Amino acid sequence: MCGFFAIVFDKENKEMGKILTKAGRRLSYRGYDTSGVVVLDDKGNFDLRKDVGKIDEVANRMNFHELSGKRGIVQLRWATFGYPSPENAQPHADCDELIFGAHNGNVVNTHSLREKLIKEGHKFRGENDGELLVHVVEKYWKREGNMVAAIMKAAHDLEGDYACVLTERYGEKMYAVKKGSSLFLGVGDGFICVSSDLPAILDHTRHILPLEDGEFVEFGPDNFILRDLETGEVIWKEPQHTDMEVKEAEKEGYPHFMIKEIEESPKKAEELLHLLPSHPSYEEAVDLINATEKIYITGAGTSYHAALLGVYYFSKIAKKPLLISFASEFAELHGPVLEDQDLLLVVSQSGETKDVKNVLDYFREHSKGKVIGIVNVLGSTIALKSDLVLPIASDIEISVPATKTFINQVTVFLYLSLLSAKKRMIPSPAGFDILELVPGVVKESIGIAKEKVSEVIDAIKDIKEFYILGYGITYPAALEGSLKVKEVVYVHSEGMYSGEFKHGPLSIVEDGYPVFFITTREDRHMVLSHMNEVKTRRGKIITVAPPDPELERISDIYIPLPTSNYFLIPISATVFFQVLAYNLGVLKGIDPDHPRNISKTITVD
Ligand code: BG6
Repeated sequence: MCGFFAIVFDKENKEMGKILTKAGRRLSYRGYDTSGVVVLDDKGNFDLRKDVGKIDEVANRMNFHELSGKRGIVQLRWATFGYPSPENAQPHADCDELIFGAHNGNVVNTHSLREKLIKEGHKFRGENDGELLVHVVEKYWKREGNMVAAIMKAAHDLEGDYACVLTERYGEKMYAVKKGSSLFLGVGDGFICVSSDLPAILDHTRHILPLEDGEFVEFGPDNFILRDLETGEVIWKEPQHTDMEVKEAEKEGYPHFMIKEIEESPKKAEELLHLLPSHPSYEEAVDLINATEKIYITGAGTSYHAALLGVYYFSKIAKKPLLISFASEFAELHGPVLEDQDLLLVVSQSGETKDVKNVLDYFREHSKGKVIGIVNVLGSTIALKSDLVLPIASDIEISVPATKTFINQVTVFLYLSLLSAKKRMIPSPAGFDILELVPGVVKESIGIAKEKVSEVIDAIKDIKEFYILGYGITYPAALEGSLKVKEVVYVHSEGMYSGEFKHGPLSIVEDGYPVFFITTREDRHMVLSHMNEVKTRRGKIITVAPPDPELERISDIYIPLPTSNYFLIPISATVFFQVLAYNLGVLKGIDPDHPRNISKTITVD
């Protein structure tokens, strides 16, 4: 997820650099790997300044404040295609610096289109998909002679979800396209602006026009023409006045980032699914995995739980064993047995967790093997130190408790294990079609969780502690569900393997003691006896599972998951606990985005 803002004034504005910088600050919650601006006058003069770093760092380093102009674009990048570097920073220019543009989103066929355009003579400065987009428009602009036709033709070539803004060096207009990512138009006195986000616009005007997917707008300082991207047909819409406050706009109306990020996880999973088959690193990673005997996988917190579910996927789907450890445990447990030809998978959404960085450094000292980083932040230390990087493409995750990044991490593991089985031609109990089910299952799981959460909260809101038990593939979900409750509700819950519960912890159960069970239908035969062990001691059983009369009969409360797919139930169950923890925490007056004592990334040992 990146952010951009663009504005065109009816006369030269000496404050343009400051205006773009302030707009950039409004966008910085969306990403901050690189920042850049371009300003233009009406005589063909332009000034393009961009670099790695947050908006204020780059603005100070490159003196944005001195820039003036009639048109200006600012863009902040959350890296998905191409590492954070000046060349990959946005805005971008075409081959001859006659067109400038910036985008937000993922053009998923970047690699193939880029190769094609290079064969047609285009000169690329970096690998960013935003640059690719400008070159595709350039190709048709040179052929059609105008931006409207060029944009419409380019749209047919570009696959994926994106929004973008473009302008000609020797021109006076700007053009913005909405195709899957957010885009707003703002109309003011003597100017018109667009942005991927409302906050940047609300500083200038409250006359807003949200564009719909498949629309694009041509605008000058005092008028705009909205058109259908497919037909070119003009669409008549009036800007509306909005009273939305800026702060709220950054959460886009949600009370907290945590629930916003839970709600957007189906879309982020969908965007990841677009990316997976076209991103060469995934194929390369599977070839490495298939060629290696001893493979380690490690992470911390939620990333560790995603890694553990990955171990189950690789074992059950790809018949490939992975050796797992907590990041902080790795050297003690696996250090003595490391060998030169081993492979290490490190899982970290931030790519900055010190425990995980320590593993990477330790592995480099004790093995000649390769490191594959499964990360969300591409410009992070772990990404830069890995031999191969697999982006999970969740966009920036603000809330300290990880939610949408967990969904995309485990979706990556599901994909890798399916691809590993396919490439080794071993019979797999699942097909690639289950990947397409993930976004819908997550969406429906959120819906069911919202329906059932108050019933569960009534049953446990005064409870000081409880267990969450999983069996087999649902065990990682029990651990992750328990972590969410600990993080956001400040209540002790313990995730445990249900087969282990009778070996000691069962003694804690007394009349009404709540025990959650997560299970699949396939594991029902075992889990039913574990449930009976609790039932006979009059424990309160709350079951999170697909609809099943046998399980429902023994449960005090039943959360019917919207899927009975064995491999997707852990994902669906985790979503329930994300929503439960969020609602319980808010009920207790806790800010779920910033729970006490913990932080989004722990960069100490
Ligand atoms: C913890 C966070 O500090 O680090 C967790 O509170 C997170 O939410 C864990 O899962 C690991 O972080 P990362 O960035 O390495 O996935």
